Amino acid sequence: MADTVAVILAAGQGKRMHSRRPKVLHRIAGRCLVEHVLAAVGEAGIKKQIVVIGHGAEEVREALGPEYTYVLQEQQLGTGHALARAREAAGTAATVLVLCGDTPLLRPATLARLLKEHRDRQAAVTILTAVLDDPTGYGRIIRDGQGMVAGIVEERDANPVEKAIREINTGIYCFEAAYLWPFLEQLQPNNDQGEYYLTDVVGLACRENLPVQAVAAGDPEEILGVNDRAQLAKAGAILRRRINMGLMQAGVTIIDPETTYIDATVRIGPDTIIYPGTFLEGNTIIEEGCSLGPGTTLRDCQVGKGSQVIHTVALESEIGPGCQVGPFAYLRPGTVLDARVKVGDFVEIKASRIGAGSKVPHLTYLGDTTVGTGVNIGAGTITCNYDGEKKWPTVIEDGAFIGSNSNLVAPVRVGAGALVGAGSTITEDVPAGSMALARGRQVNLSGRSKKSSEKRQEKG
Ligand code: UD1
Ligand code: CA
Repeated sequence: MADTVAVILAAGQGKRMHSRRPKVLHRIAGRCLVEHVLAAVGEAGIKKQIVVIGHGAEEVREALGPEYTYVLQEQQLGTGHALARAREAAGTAATVLVLCGDTPLLRPATLARLLKEHRDRQAAVTILTAVLDDPTGYGRIIRDGQGMVAGIVEERDANPVEKAIREINTGIYCFEAAYLWPFLEQLQPNNDQGEYYLTDVVGLACRENLPVQAVAAGDPEEILGVNDRAQLAKAGAILRRRINMGLMQAGVTIIDPETTYIDATVRIGPDTIIYPGTFLEGNTIIEEGCSLGPGTTLRDCQVGKGSQVIHTVALESEIGPGCQVGPFAYLRPGTVLDARVKVGDFVEIKASRIGAGSKVPHLTYLGDTTVGTGVNIGAGTITCNYDGEKKWPTVIEDGAFIGSNSNLVAPVRVGAGALVGAGSTITEDVPAGSMALARGRQVNLSGRSKKSSEKRQEKG
């Protein structure tokens, strides 16, 4: 669709959000509102996307990145004025698809259908419409005696008869560029708001007897615009349900979809089971046959085939296949667990790699550490990786055994197959195959039994 550009109007402030942040940057299901729109447009096959920015322009541009073309609408003088800003950036494109930045529920298939109908019927303008039980706030579609579209009237400019119309303008349209750009120049701000209304282009096209068509959105839910925080939550809930439904249809078990929060950007393999209270966020990829939750948050994580993660928070971490993590583990950025690693309760790991088959079963902190294969880390082991100024690495080679309640003062290396006695504070490297003991020797003193201490008290 090289001859089609999409223009997303996103210069408005969104007053009803009562936010410092531009409305279109508020997030649901892992993307900001306008990113959902851009994703739908991209999936409908339209490569060139122009975003009209104004309020918080720099913030929006920075959030979305260099992938898109931006045009600035310095003053918000209306939707027609906003679209006119995009004329130069649109170049010689024959067809212009127009959308708003605050309709995150739109489906790519709906856009594809709108474009197809527009082409098939050789229309000058095709409007995506919806029939709503409560059309309050939307522009109404006016039809003539033959049932043909004759124009759009904004609610605030509508008379009582027009207000009763339930067919509304979704704010999504296809225009033939050859008509659109000249019509935009003819717009007059003679309405209740004193704005240049894009909707008036429809009236101009009808007056010149150009073919104007309407295509109804199959599911009116799709065109829900987010104007306030309540609608933000509502759109979030609808999106969540839709994401969860899609995953279940693809073979993922979700025990309670109402309490499972999965971003649109997450990928999950079949036969994975997700327990309640689980949040899967960002670029998280879960392979097949995993068991996640309850009560688990994974952000930007990869989880290999058949792994189990219970009551855990993991950020920017990789969990290999066949691993067991939790309950109550905290994996911080840069953690890599190779295959079949066990990380148990009250374990925190940061910027560390744990080799295949190794176990960190309880009450441990590992930071900036490289652990080989088949290593056992005893309960209460702490890597002392920070000297107050710098972080230092710890290396624990294959097959080593770290006794319970040991401190490993970095930088330090425990050689392959070495053993660290329980309660040791290790400050020097331990050679491969040897045993290190670094703790006070036990001394048993006589005369501290209960009886003799009572005697001493009597004497005193
Ligand atoms: C608009 C339509 C209305 C339709 C409704 C659907 C007009 C005149 N009315 O009304 O028929 O039913 O959308 O949601 O078009 N924007 C700019 N610059 C501006 C003004 C707006 O970029 O100067 C952007 C906004 O950021 C928003 C979009 O255009 O994303 C729609 O603007 P908004 O003011 O919300 O229009 P509505 O009154 O909802
Ligand atoms: Ca709106």
